[in-house]
Amino acid sequence: MTAVPLPTSEAFLTDPYPLYGRLRETTPACRVELPDGAPAWLVTRYADVRALLADPRLSVSKSNGNGSWRGFSLPPALDANLLNMDPPDHTRIRRLVSQAFTPRRVENLRPRIQQTADALLDAVAEHGEADLVRDYAGPLPVAVISDLLGVPEADRHDFRSWTDAMVSPPDSDRATAARAVGTIHAYLAELLAAKRSDPADDLLSALIAARDDGDRLTEDELTSLAFLLLFAGYENTVHAIGTALFTLLRRSAFPLDPAHLGPSVEELLRVEPPAPVLLRRFPTEDIEIAGVVVPRGETVLLVVGAANRDPEAFPAPGEVRPGRSGAHLTFGHGVHYCLAAPLARIELEVAIGTAGRRFPRMRLAVPADEVPWRPSYRTRGLVALPVTLG
Ligand code: HEM
Repeated sequence: MTAVPLPTSEAFLTDPYPLYGRLRETTPACRVELPDGAPAWLVTRYADVRALLADPRLSVSKSNGNGSWRGFSLPPALDANLLNMDPPDHTRIRRLVSQAFTPRRVENLRPRIQQTADALLDAVAEHGEADLVRDYAGPLPVAVISDLLGVPEADRHDFRSWTDAMVSPPDSDRATAARAVGTIHAYLAELLAAKRSDPADDLLSALIAARDDGDRLTEDELTSLAFLLLFAGYENTVHAIGTALFTLLRRSAFPLDPAHLGPSVEELLRVEPPAPVLLRRFPTEDIEIAGVVVPRGETVLLVVGAANRDPEAFPAPGEVRPGRSGAHLTFGHGVHYCLAAPLARIELEVAIGTAGRRFPRMRLAVPADEVPWRPSYRTRGLVALPVTLG
């Protein structure tokens, strides 16, 4: 099948849903050419995406790909992470990290998340206006993940620029991304050495103990895990908070009713997943998807952004209807289901609830169609969210 180029236009990046909707109706497994020239299959129906996420014939390991997928070029010490591993290695490491990532550790973070959200809003209150991405959605998750992992206060300010350089825009600017990856790797090695000599009550120290106790995590696995926890989750959370606030403001649905915060957050996550195109999968044998045979080793991209708006699964899918039935796929499904979904949900509830309580008359400072989106089909996030606080 010939591949159609995935658009790179601003119109598509600002609103990819019309195209995803057409694909879902006409070509639910569509062979496309990605912006870097690599071919891939986009799968867009809810039932297919959900089934494939749980299908052991789809591997996340590049070793099962035919080499056409480029992605980030991570050094082995960062690449050996859960998102690139299949069972049984995945099962072993996931079990270890789940032990350290206990519900208690996550729930204990709630007061600190609240304190951080309040402090960030205190800082903007006197100006009467803010860029909610720069001033709120960005710094909040850095503080939260740093608290959880035990990253010292003084080191935190660099994170945003590192991740920006690593994931951001020009998928073509590989040299900048590679430099950022090198800096991050060196930083993590230093941080892990410091935690090893001076352990504390934090997740990194717990993981080091798991690694050092019986050698169940290799050094590369440990570094990769720290990398994944610090950066993968952080980026998604920034965009989820920013986009959720924007969705509410542009629909005049801000502030949220505090009594329905949880179900509302769930709906916001469904309509605007921060990672609308999930990580690549590689079929380990030829498989049929939506009536088409996808050859072994080709790249399959599961488009959660399309699946979450499939009217077969969610009637009137564009509407935010708190409490509707059905499970969205924003946190994935199956063995790779987001390890930190409970933490992300707490962050979103606190971030959106606190902004609503503190600034119920907050409004967009520019027309909604002038709010800039990041120029990436993989990430659904805003560059800035200018508001007046009211
Ligand atoms: C709104 C915020 C978040 C969203 C939407 C999100 C989404 C996801 C998704 C979709 C996956 C599965 C990817 C796939 O199957 O291809 C995933 C995996 C993962 N997420 Fe999250 N995530 C969020 C926040 C976080 C945070 C804050 C952390 C860390 C503290 C985190 C850590 C992880 C880890 C470690 C995995 C890998 C799990 C595995 O492979 O077993 N995530 N996340």
